[in-house]
Amino acid sequence: MTENVVRHLGHLSREERWEALGAGGAVVWFTGLSGSGKSTVAYEAERALVAAGRFAVVLDGDNLRHGLNSDLGFSAEDRTENLRRVAEVATLFAESGAIAIVPVISPYRSQRDAARRTVEAAELRFVEVHVDTPIELCEQRDPKGLYAKARAGEIRGFTGIDDPYEAPEVPELRLTPADGDPSQQAARLLALLAA
Ligand code: ADX
Repeated sequence: MTENVVRHLGHLSREERWEALGAGGAVVWFTGLSGSGKSTVAYEAERALVAAGRFAVVLDGDNLRHGLNSDLGFSAEDRTENLRRVAEVATLFAESGAIAIVPVISPYRSQRDAARRTVEAAELRFVEVHVDTPIELCEQRDPKGLYAKARAGEIRGFTGIDDPYEAPEVPELRLTPADGDPSQQAARLLALLAA
């Protein structure tokens, strides 16, 4: 479909733009179950990075589903398309110099690997963070009441209940409740980003 579409190149390099910002972009991809704390840690990391003078922005899966991805549901195909779009948008943000922080369930390894390929093809750093909170704890928290609905059969295909979640094998960072509260978990991410 892009056969007759030619890329238009800008008049300055990525490095020149990044130099004006004083730092370069990257994509931090948070994966984990609903209620695992992905968004909370992501927003905490965003706050801490901006406080340290960095350009960071959260692209939250739930929020994007109200706009860009409002035509998509939760079948495996729709989730794959959802994540393809999110990876493309995150790449644009990172190219412009932002640390794009992306909390999305992204339940399949293949979806996360595709996101990594998109980002790395643009020669940008991709950091996969697994927010590894036991499902029992996610369900106990149930901040949006969705686990209760899934158990009652009011939601079908809910990740972790009657839909799969494939945990990452070797994420760049794995966060568990033993790492402390969200701000302590975010601090671990900041240390990794600085490394
Ligand atoms: S993903 O699977 O495509 O990566 P995404 O992170 O965008 O999912 O959206 C997940 C959010 O949608 C959850 O946090 C939850 O609030 C809501 N949601 C609604 N239905 C489902 C479902 N069937 N499975 C998982 N999450 C759901």
